[in-house]
Amino acid sequence: MSFLGPIKPIDQTRGDPAHRLRATLSWPHLVALGVGAIVGTGIYTLTGVGAERAGPAVLLAFAIAGAVCACAALAYAELATMIPTAGSAYTYTYSVLGETLAWVVGWSLILEYSLACSTVAVGWSGYLIGWLQSAGVVLPPLLLAGPHGGGIVNLPAVLVSLGVAGMLMAGTRESATLNIMLVIIKLVALATFVIMALPAFSADNLHPFMPYGFASHVEGGQTRGVMAAAAIVFFAFYGFDAVATSAEEAKNPGRDLTIGIIGSMAVCTLIYILVALAAVGALPYTALAGSSEPLALVLRSLGHPVASYLVAGAALVALPSVILVMMYGQSRVFFVMARDGLLPQGLARVSGRTGSPVLITGITGLFVAVIAGFFRLDEIAELANAGTLIAFIAVAACMMILRRRAPDLVRVFRCPAPYLVGTLAIAGCLYLMVSLPGTTLVRFVGWNMLGLLAYFAYGRRHSLIRG
Ligand code: ALA
Repeated sequence: MSFLGPIKPIDQTRGDPAHRLRATLSWPHLVALGVGAIVGTGIYTLTGVGAERAGPAVLLAFAIAGAVCACAALAYAELATMIPTAGSAYTYTYSVLGETLAWVVGWSLILEYSLACSTVAVGWSGYLIGWLQSAGVVLPPLLLAGPHGGGIVNLPAVLVSLGVAGMLMAGTRESATLNIMLVIIKLVALATFVIMALPAFSADNLHPFMPYGFASHVEGGQTRGVMAAAAIVFFAFYGFDAVATSAEEAKNPGRDLTIGIIGSMAVCTLIYILVALAAVGALPYTALAGSSEPLALVLRSLGHPVASYLVAGAALVALPSVILVMMYGQSRVFFVMARDGLLPQGLARVSGRTGSPVLITGITGLFVAVIAGFFRLDEIAELANAGTLIAFIAVAACMMILRRRAPDLVRVFRCPAPYLVGTLAIAGCLYLMVSLPGTTLVRFVGWNMLGLLAYFAYGRRHSLIRG
């Protein structure tokens, strides 16, 4: 036991067979799971928010966030193939840094996955409202936004959250197969966007390239700068870690997870650069800023109403796949924390019929729906990012520590230049973290204080490993 609580031996991370998830996923499912989780509201909606904060240099923001995520993805791939069990960053931290930090990471992952689901639900709602409006359908405004937007509740966001939770409760395998179809729709839509928008590219739209400078700062009551944009479009890149959380359900973790994580990350980075370039090249960045459906807006403004309608329609059909994968990851993190005794064990019960943890999925769905119904998109996304950054830092640290502590453990995938990549991942994540708005950081600390209270009141006393 370290002063940070007991460490869980790596060979014990899989739990007893009664509480084990079924191995039903192979690598095409995992790449689809990764692309399904990665391409979502980040590119479809936050491109506009990023342009508002950085101007055309939102392109640079995508590149910076992508580079940091690539380093984290390499560390993830090494650990996911060494410790193939549900729970990802939480489980790795438990085995390397001890229970107390594992709790902090698990608690941060709750923020990552749940709030990412809520963010995407709100982004989806933005496309739905625009789509219906362009079809001439007018909905009661009070039911289309939370109190921050002059409404009562964002009802479409609530409904999509609950709908996806219901699908997951029906079983992992069916959801993953459906996910593959949705991923294809999403990629075809983005390809259509690039093909229609690129011909309108004007170099004039890229000047001035960096109107708000590089570092994150407050200007006119708004957080601005390339790093401020990077700290929010970072959202667009994560999701590959959801593949790692499904490690226990992979048929051949060594090969499948490596292809799943690295493959989905590479595909998505390429797509983003193209989409962002097409968007900021087609319209002045001020026109993108503040739009709740920027890609549809670009196409409408360029005089392609049908394409705009189709791209928005594809977003509507496909964005729920992001919620699906993130909610899947979330329920698995809860599941593993409950299996370890840190959360009530009843939560970890796996349904005999579907092989998935039904109760915990339902609770996750409700939490996601409430946040999506009442809060603002950029604020939710930033808080989700803070949680994710902590998890990435922990994963990079664990990867490097294990290289020292257990150099002979079998590593199916070895991160290249591990100390350089790990250090870059940590430094990059810290820089992104301090580039987030101050209010987000205060909320994040508050969330973790609450978490530590729960840990000392419940988790620590019921931890199985403490006996
Ligand atoms: N990367 C995911 C998205 O952009 C969370 O929606």
